[in-house]
Amino acid sequence: MDVIEVEGGYPIQGTITVEGAKNSALKLMAATIMAPGVTTLTNVPNIADVHVMGKVLKALGAKIDVLDEHTLAIDTSAVDKWETPYSLVSQMRASTAVMGPLISRFGKAIVAMPGGCNIGARKIDMHILGLEALGVHFEIDHGNIHATTPDGLTGSTVLLNFASVGATENLMMASVFAKGTTVIDNAAREPEIVDLANMLNEMGACIKGAGSPLIEIEGVSKLHPVTHRVVGDRIEAGTFAAIGAIAGGPVTVKGFDPVHLGLVLKKFDQMGIDITYEEDGITVSRTADLMPVDIQTLPFPGFPTDMQAQTMALLALAKGSCVVTENVFENRFMFASEIQRMGANITIEGHHAIVRGVPAYSGAEVQASDLRAGAALVIAGLVADGTTVVSNIHHIDRGYEKFVEKLQSLGAVARRTTRPDEDVFAD
Ligand code: UD1
Repeated sequence: MDVIEVEGGYPIQGTITVEGAKNSALKLMAATIMAPGVTTLTNVPNIADVHVMGKVLKALGAKIDVLDEHTLAIDTSAVDKWETPYSLVSQMRASTAVMGPLISRFGKAIVAMPGGCNIGARKIDMHILGLEALGVHFEIDHGNIHATTPDGLTGSTVLLNFASVGATENLMMASVFAKGTTVIDNAAREPEIVDLANMLNEMGACIKGAGSPLIEIEGVSKLHPVTHRVVGDRIEAGTFAAIGAIAGGPVTVKGFDPVHLGLVLKKFDQMGIDITYEEDGITVSRTADLMPVDIQTLPFPGFPTDMQAQTMALLALAKGSCVVTENVFENRFMFASEIQRMGANITIEGHHAIVRGVPAYSGAEVQASDLRAGAALVIAGLVADGTTVVSNIHHIDRGYEKFVEKLQSLGAVARRTTRPDEDVFAD
């Protein structure tokens, strides 16, 4: 079992450059299925989730050449399968992003039903209802979703109940070749959706309005492969901004567009954190006490659920109390019980967390319940008294490339170590 050990109290200063966005790279990889030939993606993060999506594409018949650590040449000419097995979907729910591209290319897809995960049920009913409106017929048996298009795909207006990122992406990809016009109303507006629409348009699609709640897709007959750079990872950037903020910095974070972190940086400013802006990044520092600020997570441009835990790690040290409300995923407060082991004072009431600031954390053994919770526990460890040991760090590996190395480059005393698994039956 690998763990991250962090010694608290060392100065954290310097510059880091973030990788390409996980949540964009995964969907761009899936979209290559729609443009037979070799699409080259640059600025791809070298993280576990990208490796799983690579396996998904290979299982479908794609070839992937790793041109350098962050550049993938994906050849989808020979893709001849449309079934994604549970062994891969269960490792990463984002595997369902191939459903739209497979329906586009083959008019059919078989995708294992994703189960729940640590942050909630994560249903796909909106994907299904939206695709049905375009003419997709679904049957579910033996844990698999079978999608067929007996009469082809025809453009339609789809109003989403909630601005779901995954549903917006699957619908956008499925409608690229549909006859006529598709309108996605109440579409998600995340920067990763804009990145996907940009790449599809470079490939020859006709998508207007990505980044607004109304996306219009005019059907085209084919797409061609391209070279595309993955947008910088705003959540990795926000995580390192939180690191600079908790420890005092200054920490410069480069490689992303600060506009993509708009509300997070506004809240950080209200918390007493100093931020200076550059074209492709920010510098974060802090000399004053952290002030309490209420946060509620919402789809973009609201406060991202993927920054909730890292921000709560800061708020739990603020001078006063505040309320953090989680509106996107139901189980995303498991982190709060772990950080209480480090001395935080947090009470959960449904989807609200009442956070009462404490003066300091004390290092403890804690477990990452998901990717962002794992990062947040490491963040707390950086300023805790003594040593913090974070286990279940495979979650961190899913989305952060060289997390420990980047922390070390900023001066953190952190290391990754392997602990033998305890055998309860041993003598
Ligand atoms: C994506 C991101 C994830 C981020 C989330 C919200 C990827 C790989 N993951 O996840 O990091 O936290 O957006 O910004 O891009 N829902 C339904 N029915 C559906 C679809 C969604 O009820 O058909 C619910 C989900 O259970 C959840 C909420 O809607 O409660 C938001 O989900 P969604 O925006 O779809 O998130 P993901 O695309 O899964």
